[in-house]
Amino acid sequence: MINVIPRPRVAVEEEGFFEIPSDVICIRYDRRLGNMRQCVACTLGLISEESCYSDISFIYSEKMKEEEYLLKVTEAGIKIFASDYNGAFYAMVTVKQLLDDENKVPCCKISDRPLYSWRGMQLDESRYFFGMETVKKLIDYMAMYKLNRFHWHLTDDQGWRIEIKKHPLLTEIGSKRKGSQLHNWQCFDMSHSPVEGYYTQEEIKQIVAYAKARCVEIIPEIDFPGHSLAAIASYNDLACREIHSEVPDFFGGKIPESRGEKDWNRALCLGKDEVLEFVYDVIDETAALFPFPYFHVGGDEAPTSEWKKCPKCQARMRAEGLKNETQLQGWFTNKLNEHLKAQGKIMVGWNEILAAKGLDSDIVAQYWISRNGKNVLKHMKKGGNVILSNHKYFYFDMTHEYCTVKGTYYYEPSKVGIKGKSVQNVLGVEGQNWTEWTPTAEELFFKFSVRGLALAECAWSRSRDYNEFLERLEANKAKLDKMGIYYGEDWITLQKNSKAKKKAAKKLGLTTKNYDCEYELSVSK
Ligand code: ACM
Ligand code: ZN
Repeated sequence: MINVIPRPRVAVEEEGFFEIPSDVICIRYDRRLGNMRQCVACTLGLISEESCYSDISFIYSEKMKEEEYLLKVTEAGIKIFASDYNGAFYAMVTVKQLLDDENKVPCCKISDRPLYSWRGMQLDESRYFFGMETVKKLIDYMAMYKLNRFHWHLTDDQGWRIEIKKHPLLTEIGSKRKGSQLHNWQCFDMSHSPVEGYYTQEEIKQIVAYAKARCVEIIPEIDFPGHSLAAIASYNDLACREIHSEVPDFFGGKIPESRGEKDWNRALCLGKDEVLEFVYDVIDETAALFPFPYFHVGGDEAPTSEWKKCPKCQARMRAEGLKNETQLQGWFTNKLNEHLKAQGKIMVGWNEILAAKGLDSDIVAQYWISRNGKNVLKHMKKGGNVILSNHKYFYFDMTHEYCTVKGTYYYEPSKVGIKGKSVQNVLGVEGQNWTEWTPTAEELFFKFSVRGLALAECAWSRSRDYNEFLERLEANKAKLDKMGIYYGEDWITLQKNSKAKKKAAKKLGLTTKNYDCEYELSVSK
C-alpha cells in the first residue's frame, strides 16, 4: 500500500527502491518551477547541489494544472513533473511520506492533484496565545498533509494579538488578561494565571514567509463588529457607551451574570464615524502584512442590544434608511467590503454577514452553522463562493464523540444542502481550532491532529475509503511523533473503546458526558 495522506489520485507501486542521501542531495531543475533548493530544504530538510547527475530532477510540464504533480521513483532516481512550485512541493511531500527509516523511497508512479483549492485550518490565538513555535509546527503539519490555507483568528473578546502601530493600546492593554475560565461553558472554575502575548509586525512577516515557502497562504481574521471586547477594553469609546471594561477572563456561560455584569457582551458602535476610521486603520495595517488577497472580517454573533439603545447607532439607521439592527450590521459589512475591494482584497466573513442587503456576490462566506444556511444557499445561487466549516464536521475544538473523525472524513457539501450547480462555488473546506478550552499546545495538537488528517483527505482526494485511511493513519503516527504533534489514543480519538473512556473518566471523577474533558481522559489513562 502507498502510505500517503491525503490519498493520491492514481498510485502504482513498483519493485525496488531509491535511497535518498542523508547529507547533500544532487538536483536539476527548470527555473520556471521556482526555487527547488528551497523546496528540498523545506520538505526533506536537506541541502541540495545542482549537478548534471541528479538524485531528483524537477521537470516543467505545462500540461499540469496548479498544484498537480507526476512523481516517478525508479532505482536510478526521482523525476518530478509539475507546472508550478506548489505541484513540485507536493511531489516532495509525497516523497517525504514514503521515506522509510533507512531513507529509502519505494519505486512508484503517482499522478496527483487536489479536489479543492481551499484546504484550510484555522487557529484562534485570542483565547490562548501559542506563539511562533507552535504556529510554525501547525504550518509544518499543514504542509505535510497538503493543507494550504491558514486562517489566523488574531482578535476576539479575550485578547488582541497583532501589533497595530497607529493604535498601540490594542496590544498594551488588549493583549493581556488576568485569568481564564476553565474546562467548559458551564464551569465556574477559574485559573488566575495571566494570559498575554501578541505578534509584532516583524514576526508576522517572518511567519508569512515561512508559510509561503511551504505552500501555505495566510488569511488574517480581525473579527468585527462583535467579538471585539479586547479592542473596547483598550479604547473604551469604541463601544456605544463608555462604561469601563477589561479584557474578560471568562468565555461565557453564567460567570458574567453571577458577577452582575449584564452588559458585558457589547459590539463596536456603528453610529460613530471614528469607529469606522479605527476599523479602516486596523484593516490597512493588517492587509499590508498579508500578501494573499483574502481578508477575513469575522462578522459572527454580533450582539445588537447596545445598538438598539444607542442614539448614534439609531441616527445612523435613520440616515441610511435601515429598518433594523441586522441591516445596520449589513451596512457596516458593505462598508468593509468597499474598503477592502479598493485595495484589491477579497472579503471573507462568517455566514452571518450574508444577512446584509445588497451585498456584493464577490465576497466569500464561511458556512459554519451545521444546517439551515438559507442565506448561504442564496449567495451561492447568485454565484458567490463559500468555504465550508460546518460545526458538526469541522469544529475540532468539539469532542471526537460529537465531531467524529469519520464524519469529517466522509463530509460532502450535500450534507449541508449544497447540490447541483452550486457545488462549483465551493472553494473548499476548513477545520476550526477555537481555543476557549485549549490552554496548551499539546491539547491543541490532540484536538486537530487526527481530524486534520481526515480533513486533508476530504479536501484533496476524490475517492475515499475510511478503513484504508485508518491503516494509513497508523503508518503516519511515526511522522506525527517526529514532528512533535501529540495525537492521543485511538480509544478516544476514534471512539473505539467506550469502556476505556468510562474507566478513565471515573478515575478523574468525571462523566463521559462532560464534553470538554477528552484530553484529560486521554492523558490520565
Ligand atoms: C463561530 O464559531 N462563531 C464562527
Ligand atoms: Zn452605538
